[in-house]
Amino acid sequence: MALRILGIETSCDETAAGVVEDGRVLRSNVISSQAELHSRYGGVVPEVASRQHVRDLAPVLERAVESCGMGLEDVDAVAVTYGPGLAGSLLTGLNAAKAVAYSLGKPFIGVNHLEAHIYASWLTPANPADAPGFPLACLVASGGHTDLLLMEGHGVYRLVGRTRDDAAGEAFDKAARILGLGFPGGPEIQRVAQGAAGGFSLPRAWMRDTHDFSFSGLKTALLHLAQGQGVYPADSENALDDGAMAAAVRELAAAFQESVVDVISVKLVEMARKYGVRGLVLGGGVTANARLREEILRRSPLPVIIPPPVLCTDNGAMVAACAYYQHQRGEQWPLELDVEPGLPLG
Ligand code: KG4
Ligand code: ZN
Repeated sequence: MALRILGIETSCDETAAGVVEDGRVLRSNVISSQAELHSRYGGVVPEVASRQHVRDLAPVLERAVESCGMGLEDVDAVAVTYGPGLAGSLLTGLNAAKAVAYSLGKPFIGVNHLEAHIYASWLTPANPADAPGFPLACLVASGGHTDLLLMEGHGVYRLVGRTRDDAAGEAFDKAARILGLGFPGGPEIQRVAQGAAGGFSLPRAWMRDTHDFSFSGLKTALLHLAQGQGVYPADSENALDDGAMAAAVRELAAAFQESVVDVISVKLVEMARKYGVRGLVLGGGVTANARLREEILRRSPLPVIIPPPVLCTDNGAMVAACAYYQHQRGEQWPLELDVEPGLPLG
């Protein structure tokens, strides 16, 4: 009999739940995004996020089980992200998961959000553990993290590189704000950058002799270029007309995107070579970026496993996939488990 795990994710602004069989077979993946709710503030407002999770959790859980012809009682275990993330948001999902697990008398499993992003790759046709096999070089690039991890086996990680300031997703979100685009910024930048002529170039923080990243200087460089081009502030006296503005925003967005993509793809492939891994695994919202995916595939001599975009951004299925391997290892999680907003990986 297949082991069916319900995975719950509320670490940031997505209320999500999914059912996965044996860590590999995606049965359902329901995501209620709060992006629109937060867009007017230009970023996630923690208090607003937790309240919305409370409203959305019950219907999302219900749809996640019903859409695969199950009831909650058919679930074999309940898994939930307990960190890292926003404390108030994490708490809503954690409490829901505890309640469901306790009332059904089913195992309860706490999952690290960053590890879950890695396990989204197990929901693709590839099983990274079999082919290409361990060790794997993992990139987790999200709104809060830009981590390079060496994965030596299930649940065994070594953090070898990370951002020293802004995360890649955070940089995309801030860049979008400078360019007057919506939230979240990543998809907006990707959209407007299409068809750019490539007339501008922004600096790359290579941070030689380390696998670490830095993106805050790039954000400042973009700000200065945007000011010089009359794009920022949008209501300045010498504001551009609509056509010129759209063209300038397109070029600036493309220059920003290329800079981030270049640094991440080069440093990931470098790290993979240095540690003699067998393959690369990508996860996190930023790895939904089409240019980043393209560039990593182009540069890597090794197999690269990339989940479809919907499994790169936050979702419950990846939590369930990750929890399966924890369950296989016999991990026992107490119902007293608390949230860990700063939970590290590796
Ligand atoms: O993994 P995720 O959904 O949530 C966190 O764990 O933070 O990542 C969200 C981040 C946001 O900063 C968003 O702008 C970025 O991922 N993102 C993208 C794209 N889609 C989402 N960044 C670049 N290109 C995209 N297509
Ligand atoms: Zn995430």
